[in-house]
Amino acid sequence: MISSENQHKQKALPLPSPRHVAIIMDGNGRWAKNRGKLRIFGHQAGFRSVRRAVSLAISYRFDALTLYAFSSENWKRPTQEVSSLMELFIQALDNEVKSLNKYNVRLRIIGDISRFGERLQECIRHSEALTYNNNGLALNIAANYGGRWDIIQGVRHLASQVQDGILLPYQITEDALCRVVCMNELSPVDLVIRTGGEHRLSNFLLWQIAYAELFFTDVLWPDFDEAVFEGALNAFAQRERRFGGTRTNDTHAV
Ligand code: FPP
Repeated sequence: MISSENQHKQKALPLPSPRHVAIIMDGNGRWAKNRGKLRIFGHQAGFRSVRRAVSLAISYRFDALTLYAFSSENWKRPTQEVSSLMELFIQALDNEVKSLNKYNVRLRIIGDISRFGERLQECIRHSEALTYNNNGLALNIAANYGGRWDIIQGVRHLASQVQDGILLPYQITEDALCRVVCMNELSPVDLVIRTGGEHRLSNFLLWQIAYAELFFTDVLWPDFDEAVFEGALNAFAQRERRFGGTRTNDTHAV
């Protein structure tokens, strides 16, 4: 279960608050190692943090929450860890989708799911179909996802339109590419949070986060809780977003 209804009462947030938050969930392995446990134990604890983050995102009334669960590079991990993660994804979808549906969450998996086993692909199709008409939180799980893959699949789409004579090369614009990358119908990503102490993007949403604010914390993903989330939202509220323009009160800027 994602959480009880009571916990989804709207929470007051520092303003401005983001509409779309994306999270690089890092540190499960180290969290497990610190406890002398196998890495999969960290991923299971990480999944409990996923539930917490989704419940909070519902309470915060975000439009969208996007979570980096498995990158296109994560196949390089030991076979045992990869297969345990696949099993965890199947269990997570099986156990949570009804409750996501009850809370009006629309679940989508972004990434190339064709490389997953048939059972996981079937679970994904079922979960997406069940929640398709929901208009509450848009929950996007990036799985076998890479920002470069995302841009390439968009470029291929446009190239085939050029080949079919639907589009002229000069019509390949920022707007045109925006319309074919993942999550094109959602509000732009405002804030990217990365846990686990690293200060990099690791091929996550490269196109979509051109103007997102970035927040890095040393907290390991299984320890991510309401206080850490609100720390990130407080930091976001302090930022002045200029989108390439000048400061709002900088009237003398040349
Ligand atoms: C990164 O930590 C975490 C992952 C690659 C897997 C994320 C998976 C979950 C949080 C659980 C399931 C999620 C869903 C949405 C069903 P790491 O292993 O790289 O940690 P380390 O840097 O400490 O080694």
